[in-house]
Amino acid sequence: KLSPDELRERILAVKREMGPRLLILGHHYQRDEVIELSDLQGDSYRLSALAAENEACRAIIFCGVHFMAETADILANRPEKVAQRGERIPVILPDMKAGCSMADMAEIDQVEECWQQLSQVIDISEVIPVTYVNSSAKLKAFCGRHGGTVCTSANADVALQWALSRGRRVLFFPDQHLGRNTALKMGIPLEAMPVWDPYARELGGNSREAIEKSTVILWKGHCSVHQIFRPEHVDYFRANYPGIKILVHPECMKEVVEKADVVGSTGRIIRAVEEAPPGTKWAIGTELHLVNRLKKKHPEQEIYFLAPVVCMCSTMYRIDLPHLCWAAENLAAGTPVNVIRVDDATAKDALVALERMLELKG
Ligand code: 13P
Ligand code: SF4
Repeated sequence: KLSPDELRERILAVKREMGPRLLILGHHYQRDEVIELSDLQGDSYRLSALAAENEACRAIIFCGVHFMAETADILANRPEKVAQRGERIPVILPDMKAGCSMADMAEIDQVEECWQQLSQVIDISEVIPVTYVNSSAKLKAFCGRHGGTVCTSANADVALQWALSRGRRVLFFPDQHLGRNTALKMGIPLEAMPVWDPYARELGGNSREAIEKSTVILWKGHCSVHQIFRPEHVDYFRANYPGIKILVHPECMKEVVEKADVVGSTGRIIRAVEEAPPGTKWAIGTELHLVNRLKKKHPEQEIYFLAPVVCMCSTMYRIDLPHLCWAAENLAAGTPVNVIRVDDATAKDALVALERMLELKG
């Protein structure tokens, strides 16, 4: 068994050998030791954009979760890029078990069934599907095929506005909280947001009337990490730490988001702390590793974790130095492992939706 220092040295040796041809991307929820070795860090939006842009790189090791690596594969290996550089580049996920439980809550068969059922009660040509980037490539492809788009937590409002300028209704996957929080901010009333439960047999558990009155149909998915944060946690900090600011991710439930001072993607959360004056007090509701890193980086501020229990993304946590070292060394040896390859037909349709998202910016 190698020590963390030995593992770090071996990964650095691969980085030296491959130079700019290797790009290690790290999502903000990764462990510190992985973040330290990644070339670029970001939220889902920034990492997608980086994968779309990079010219020099010939391989990506994605320290994040499966849907992120799929997205990177689709963007980095879009046909014009492959033609330009004359080869596909491998996108590697160091541990194949690093999935996202929220993304798994919207399976393509359930989505097709929902679409089919909806088309029997409303004019389906007026429905624009929007999927959060935390979803499978197949669901992104579905959105691409049906005139929809992808969004991230950084641009969900822009994406919803865009969708509602093109159609009368939006079908939003898979995170009901991001969908609800964003739509509420835009002034859409709760009554116009039925929730589609893929396990309910008829109309996702809704009445025909509720569907007919809908503006945004929310898919019944959630993040198991962010559902831990509760409104009473906010009340506790407000009562015990006068002047404290509450900073949360929009995957938190509406009752938490409504009580928060700042709501935003992981990138936005980091910016808020970086821009705050010394002495600012924060209680932050997002994944534990990011909050702990912010605490370490900003000793001049008082930073607390919003929940009284440990809550971390256990699948993000699967990416560790042994997996990263194994992935990097195999890549350098010309025998890449854990390559995430989205099939061409899915990639083609998903790209349509992803390019729409990148055009929307936000
Ligand atoms: P960001 O889009 O804010 O990076 O979040 C990704 C994610 O998985 C949050 O749970
Ligand atoms: Fe998925 Fe939640 Fe983990 Fe983000 S924090 S990757 S949404 S399970």
